Amino acid sequence: MKTIKNMVVLATLVFVAPFVSADEDDAPPAPAAPPSVEEIAAGVCAGCHGADGNSIIPMNPILAGQKAEYITKQLLDFKANGEQPPHRNSPVMSAMVAALTQEDAQKLGEYYANQKLVPSQIPGDENLLEMGKILYHGGNIENQVPACAGCHGPTGTGIPPRYPALAGQHQEYTMNQLGLFNNGERGNDNGVMQKVVSRMNPQEKRAVSEYIATLR
Ligand code: HEC
Ligand code: HEC
Repeated sequence: MKTIKNMVVLATLVFVAPFVSADEDDAPPAPAAPPSVEEIAAGVCAGCHGADGNSIIPMNPILAGQKAEYITKQLLDFKANGEQPPHRNSPVMSAMVAALTQEDAQKLGEYYANQKLVPSQIPGDENLLEMGKILYHGGNIENQVPACAGCHGPTGTGIPPRYPALAGQHQEYTMNQLGLFNNGERGNDNGVMQKVVSRMNPQEKRAVSEYIATLR
């Protein structure tokens, strides 16, 4: 009986051991060919943006259906340029793009642009939504906020190559970007968005971000 038990233990150890040692030394063997864009998306990006670019984490942007040129530009903007800090400051994304080539950035743009958008869940506050809707389509003459629709399109689908799609994006992400444009942390927009948000009050930022999440 004891021998049988020992044999089972031994067999288990022999079976498990290769996996344990692989775990301890988790550097995979160097790949023969550079990874394809599908492999990069699945292996590096999916954990935060979803396998098809439909992030379900509200602080991580949905990429599915976004304009390809815009995605490519953002990926290159996250990259540090020699001594120069990146145009768009995000420690997380800077680490992600460090190893990407320009060609990777282009292909990733096309890959996500071709995915089907699954919009964010519609948030609830009717009054905020109404305020956001008015601001989005008509701007605010009093504090001279321009209509978002003028550059991002009446349904928020964006205008390539320069103006990104906003429709269905997570409210939290949009809200956060407006804040980053406002405090200058994000400065890769030639000052265009910085000027827009400098005129908006906090309630307008919240309202328009909620409304954008409901755009289809
Ligand atoms: C650890 C989580 C994480 C991983 C992994 C990750 N991202 Fe991101 N990504 C983020 C966050 C957070 C932001 C928002 C950054 C900010 O604050 O501006 C972002 C922003 C972006 C943006 C800007 C989108 C926009 O609408 O402006 C793009 C494009 C992007 N990521 C692509 C990628 C790609 C491609 C990969 C894989 C190579 C990747 N990300 C991997 C978390 C991640
Ligand atoms: C004059 C044109 C213009 C107007 C008006 C404008 N935008 Fe933009 N917006 C841009 C440009 C250009 C960018 C892309 C900057 C870049 O390349 O990173 C942008 C980017 C953004 C982003 C970042 C998207 C992302 O995925 O990270 C948000 C959010 C945004 N705009 C919201 C708004 C809102 C809300 C309004 C209205 C209050 C508005 N914009 C009005 C030109 C405009």
